[in-house]
Amino acid sequence: MRAPNSSAEPIRVQVARVLHAVARGSSLDQALARHLAPPAAGYERDPAFARALCYESLRHGVSSAALLAQLCQRPPKPLIAALLGAALTELRFLATPVHAAVAESVAAARVLDSGAAGFANALLRRFLRERETLELQLQPNPSARLDHPAWLLARYQEDWPDQVEAICAGGNQAAPMWLRVDPRQGSREAYQAELAELGIESSAPESPAQALLLTTPVAVERLPGFAQGRVSVQDAAAQQVVAVMAAKPGQRVLDACAAPGGKSAALAEQVPDLVLTVIEKDAQRCPRLEDTLRRCRVSARLVVADAADSASWWDGERFDRILIDAPCTGTGVIRRHPDIKFLRRASDVAALAREQSRLLDALWPLLTPGGRLTYATCSILKPENQAQIEAFCQRTPSARVLPLSLPGFIAAGPGLQCLPGSLDQDGFYYACLQRSD
Ligand SMILES: C[S@@+](CC[C@H](N)C(=O)[O-])C[C@H]1O[C@@H](n2cnc3c(N)ncnc32)[C@H](O)[C@@H]1O
Repeated sequence: MRAPNSSAEPIRVQVARVLHAVARGSSLDQALARHLAPPAAGYERDPAFARALCYESLRHGVSSAALLAQLCQRPPKPLIAALLGAALTELRFLATPVHAAVAESVAAARVLDSGAAGFANALLRRFLRERETLELQLQPNPSARLDHPAWLLARYQEDWPDQVEAICAGGNQAAPMWLRVDPRQGSREAYQAELAELGIESSAPESPAQALLLTTPVAVERLPGFAQGRVSVQDAAAQQVVAVMAAKPGQRVLDACAAPGGKSAALAEQVPDLVLTVIEKDAQRCPRLEDTLRRCRVSARLVVADAADSASWWDGERFDRILIDAPCTGTGVIRRHPDIKFLRRASDVAALAREQSRLLDALWPLLTPGGRLTYATCSILKPENQAQIEAFCQRTPSARVLPLSLPGFIAAGPGLQCLPGSLDQDGFYYACLQRSD
């Protein structure tokens, strides 16, 4: 029999490799898949701990880097810096006993670089001795204090000057787990009772109608009927797409930016007989989209194409409803994807805004007169949201803004904005436009 975890590297070495990969531009999901060993007998909790440490280390990556800069005369090698960032996070924010966190981190440093163990040991012990002073020295630096990159703080300051602290606090929290219950396979109340019998506590908001908020996240394998699509994991803000689109049974609906398919599935589960076309530009994201559609029993025409290039995929029949769940900075979902803080650049905002307006302009003519186009992003930046839709309406006389009202969302120009953490939801933007010619 294989000795437990014999072939895997120590947990903190794996974590350092994940963080190093993200620092070099990989997404957290890809880095976890590449560098985290699967659970081994006797060590089943290791991967969950490693994931949690990776997420927390990225949440607090800006302040950890500032602390490291205070503690080091010369920057350590990148992998050792990643390891020390994780070690500082563990000491500052996780419940690991201090001696274990230091000993394991020093052992991991030895694996990565035999000469680095003494340095890591001295640095971590100095941090523990001078912790209060070092943390206080972070305070005058807003980027370190709020644990967000300076360029993003400047954006928040411009767009939401009174909410910068709350937005960052929301972005630095661990996200809760929201479920969406498929009403075709039983009521939300019945599913909630079934969860309660399994000891999984949840609450049910009035809206969205199919949502449950788990008191504590669980592995999807513990959710009854997950494989059969009885339930899916989806944030409440995203589930509101069904209310915003207000599609009617049998309508022709286009989901122009569809992978991984959560919104298409929510729509098809809750509105019968939709004639659904789903488009995704990135072929690598299509298997996941196909999985969602299959698991959630959604029938749709799936096209791999640039949605804006309608000549390549459109049959000429107009749509009653169009959803553009546009590619965006993801600034509303940093609590779920803390790597966004390190992967995005200031220049991405304008580039994404250009892509969003290209999609809007190209898809508007595909809407039937009287039909509705819903524009959504998981961004909280105005150039991607209200300024985007205001500019579109200015150049598109046939676009009429429809009023919206959603719990936890605030008015933002022609649409509604949810800021991260409001009613436990992700940051999200919706606008709904009717074709009035
Ligand atoms: C925000 S995600 C969509 C999430 C999805 N609607 C859901 O709820 O699961 C945006 C998606 O649009 C895709 N995309 C970006 N530009 C596109 C384009 N021009 N045409 C089609 N898909 C595009 C991206 O690859 C990405 O998968």
